[in-house]
Amino acid sequence: MQQEFTRALFETFRKTILDFCGIAIPDDSRSELERKIRERMTQTGFSDFYSYHVHIAGREAGEDELRKFIESITNNETYFFREPAHFRVLKSHIVPELLRKKKERRIRVWSAGCSTGEEAYTIAISLFETRMLLGDFDIEVLATDIDRNALTIAQLGNFGRNSFRAIDPSYLNTYFRIPDQRLMDYRIIDERIRAITRFEYLNLFDDHYPDYLHDIDVIFFRNVSIYFPKDKIQSVNRRLSEVLNESGYLFLGSSETLHHNFGHLDLVDYDGVFLYQKKTGTEEKTKKTIAPSLHESKRHHRPASPKEIAKPQTPRSASSRTKPEAPPSLDQVFAMYKDGAYAQILALWDMHADGLEPKIPFLILKAFIYIGQEDFDLARKTCDAMMALDALNAEVYFLSGLVDYHAGQFAAATEKLKKALFLKKDLAMAHYYLASVYRQSGKTDDARREFRNTIKILEHKQDTSVSFLAQGYSSDYLINACKQYLK
Ligand SMILES: C[S@@+](CC[C@H](N)C(=O)[O-])C[C@H]1O[C@@H](n2cnc3c(N)ncnc32)[C@H](O)[C@@H]1O
Repeated sequence: MQQEFTRALFETFRKTILDFCGIAIPDDSRSELERKIRERMTQTGFSDFYSYHVHIAGREAGEDELRKFIESITNNETYFFREPAHFRVLKSHIVPELLRKKKERRIRVWSAGCSTGEEAYTIAISLFETRMLLGDFDIEVLATDIDRNALTIAQLGNFGRNSFRAIDPSYLNTYFRIPDQRLMDYRIIDERIRAITRFEYLNLFDDHYPDYLHDIDVIFFRNVSIYFPKDKIQSVNRRLSEVLNESGYLFLGSSETLHHNFGHLDLVDYDGVFLYQKKTGTEEKTKKTIAPSLHESKRHHRPASPKEIAKPQTPRSASSRTKPEAPPSLDQVFAMYKDGAYAQILALWDMHADGLEPKIPFLILKAFIYIGQEDFDLARKTCDAMMALDALNAEVYFLSGLVDYHAGQFAAATEKLKKALFLKKDLAMAHYYLASVYRQSGKTDDARREFRNTIKILEHKQDTSVSFLAQGYSSDYLINACKQYLK
């Protein structure tokens, strides 16, 4: 008879994972985790969960197996030129600034959590593109990950169609070659790019970082921290700040900026792209430090693949410290949301089942969290639950449109945002996201009209739901964001 994967076993394994690499496994991934463990047990000849766990947790003998097990649960979703605006900022603002300021003629960029290498090679291509400027500057792109399989793929530099979903064809022709005419979908990275890129194993939660990680000018730490619970992120953030040079920059994924607190880094804005910069003692700040962006569009994101069982900021067992006597109020939970306590918020549903009232705003917060985690299936299910409660609610259509927007389904997003506006014409956030959809679809005139509509409503304070639906951002912040786009 097959051994049962009990709740206690689930807790034991997920604690081991969390302690080793910071990845939080959510409750709803229990059966997927079980499947992964069973697969590993079959491959390694273990017949019961307990002895397999003793093996991987007893580091000496089992460390290699622990790593293999971790490799089976990592989410390696990545592609070339993901969030292309980041690479534009690297080329047009950061490189010229480094050229002006750096005494040693070298630039070092680190892709932390590089997965199969697309991000690191995109950085290398972007830097290579500025070689006329860089002259004899030495360029090095360091790329690290905990997943050795991903690193092997990265080192091979051989990529398929999925990796190229967002690349400009001119880069594809310039920096890749087709290794075999029978495999037209596959391309190999150019040697000039490979030569300046170095891949290494690193667990970001290791006690010591290797010596080569110092004197870093720019860090890309994108779509990695979303898997770490808030209380775990801080130690990694501190390390990243330490290895970064003064005035150096750090990029996060656009849906991650809200989760972070980098004490020694300022959040700065380059043409609507938000990133962090390390403070210096001497330099006078020329860039305005600003609030973080709303979730930017994930035009090319796809829903999680079956492998992607590691989901960000998910509930572990609700601790007695956070368990309130009575269900918390919406205001309290909204404050938790703004504070990034996503795991605790999701755990509230386990604790209070039907006690969270009024239901729709609570569900809206839940949907926001799933959107931030790019778990569009769960976000949609949450919208369906709201729709079942009130099929004529403008906010529900807005949320549904927001999910489609972040999933890159612009036609569906447009339809739902328009329905939201049909039900409530002054819903400022629906105008704002409709503008964003139009902007990203190249419909500039429509986008400008909708940004102007957003400003008009916000300036006349006709929409009291703004702060909530804008996830805590003020009207002034949004007005400024619209004006940026209208410039
Ligand atoms: C979703 S990918 C992001 C890839 C790339 N940064 C991007 O944005 O396209 C997340 C990567 O983080 C890695 N990762 C997760 N936990 C890690 C840890 N503790 N140390 C190092 N890498 C880790 C995973 O193996 C995975 O390859």
